[in-house]
Amino acid sequence: MENSNQTSSNRFILLGLTNIPYLQAIYVSVFFVIYITTLSANSLFIIVVRINERLQTPMYLLLSNLSILDICLSSTISPRIMINTLSQDRSVSVLDCALQMFFNLAVGGTECLILAVMAYDRYAAICQPLHYNTVMNKTFCICVATGSWTLSFISAFLHVFFTFQLPYCRSHTVNHFFCEMPPFFRLSCRDTWPNELAVYITATIIAMCSFCLTLISYIHIISTILNFRSSEGRKKSFSTCTSHLTVVSLFYGTILLYMIPHSETSKQLQLFIRL
Ligand SMILES: *[C@@H]1O[C@H](CO)[C@@H](O)[C@H](O)[C@H]1NC(C)=O
Repeated sequence: MENSNQTSSNRFILLGLTNIPYLQAIYVSVFFVIYITTLSANSLFIIVVRINERLQTPMYLLLSNLSILDICLSSTISPRIMINTLSQDRSVSVLDCALQMFFNLAVGGTECLILAVMAYDRYAAICQPLHYNTVMNKTFCICVATGSWTLSFISAFLHVFFTFQLPYCRSHTVNHFFCEMPPFFRLSCRDTWPNELAVYITATIIAMCSFCLTLISYIHIISTILNFRSSEGRKKSFSTCTSHLTVVSLFYGTILLYMIPHSETSKQLQLFIRL
């Protein structure tokens, strides 16, 4: 009895996706395909941008930053889900769990900030074309990119650190298929409101600032484009925004899904879109 308590004290049990064997097989294959696609598509993109001089623009460099983030996130989540489902062993170590939580938060925050920087880049390119090279110069780009990474990674570290300071005396069974903060808070026997408030405030600040910057940039971009004389010029300028707009809509679409009350399907849908 004592022994089993001790082993469970440094591991958590993830309830996983399903207990039905044939569904497990389907899930594992789907995760495998998604994971391999994510890895190869993103690596390919990073390599293409690296070796192609013409793609060394802020836009593509920032997109390859997003690719690295994608790889980090998938690699901390997908393999673990596949291993746990295949081995029927639902437990994860505290470190694994903390890493999943950390990357989930850190990657989300960094993506959000980098998308805002990319919106600013499109604003500079379309609304200030003559000053574009001075506004989006190399030092500025490196500073904002490094800033986004540092800010999100430090804040994620603090949140995860304080989450694992909580006493988990109630249960070690997480009703989810990877380690995420909200289901975790429900396991603690201490009041978790200070942690929840801190996460909520940080997420709101990061998401709101990025969303506003993105929105303001696009309001300027659209009003500038509408003032162009030729429809050819309009189309051409707008087409430089499409890759960014696609990523932005996917990202904020996922955030919206998060706000939908937690049903099983929405949780699974969120994860698939996220990966
Ligand atoms: C990330 O973005 C910064 C700023 O544009 C760039 O200097 C850096 O090379 C990018 N990293 C990668 C791996 O593309």
